[in-house]
Amino acid sequence: DNNNLCYKKELLFKYLVIGDYGVGKTSIIRRYAEDTFSSKYKITIGADFAIKTITWDNYTTINLQLWDIAGHERFGALTSVYYRYALAAALVFDLTRPETLNSIPKWLKDLRNRSSLPNGQNLPVILLANKGDVNLDNIPKHLDEFCKENNILTWFITSAKENINLDIAMNTLIDYTLHHK
Ligand code: GTP
Ligand code: MG
Repeated sequence: DNNNLCYKKELLFKYLVIGDYGVGKTSIIRRYAEDTFSSKYKITIGADFAIKTITWDNYTTINLQLWDIAGHERFGALTSVYYRYALAAALVFDLTRPETLNSIPKWLKDLRNRSSLPNGQNLPVILLANKGDVNLDNIPKHLDEFCKENNILTWFITSAKENINLDIAMNTLIDYTLHHK
């Protein structure tokens, strides 16, 4: 009946997925939103997005809009506009290319220059160590410390290929958005 509609909420959250080219941002979003994976690399030009609808609980439906920001440097200035109204971000690096972790502070700086929450605070951020299916011997040892130093909520090993930890990672951000107003 009509009364039921009063306490059912449908929310729209815009989140960013950022990091160097080739780390797997597009693949993560495809796997998470569509449950598909391709091993072919097709560079993202500018930006793209996908929406996943999540039934969070009996009262809450979340339309999660995931923005896939091109990692290639030549799109850097172009992508600034896509950061507007974002509520959270996943920073991605590639476990098989350690230099992509070194770029994370740069991506964080960009993020914090380009966006903030409606209350003026920094966006909540998580770190994704992607391609965990390939290279589990080579996990950087200082990630806890790195997150603490850089004000990153937490980190996860992920795989877009094998669908590892993507739901739990996104749920961490959703939980944050729902509970910090
Ligand atoms: P840009 O669009 O240029 O910024 O790159 P991107 O971060 O979107 O990378 P993309 O998702 O296109 O992935 C780059 C390559 O890595 C592709 O060949 C993917 O198939 C591969 N890849 C992505 N995620 C994984 C993963 O979890 N495991 C493995 N083994 N390969 C992956
Ligand atoms: Mg891409």
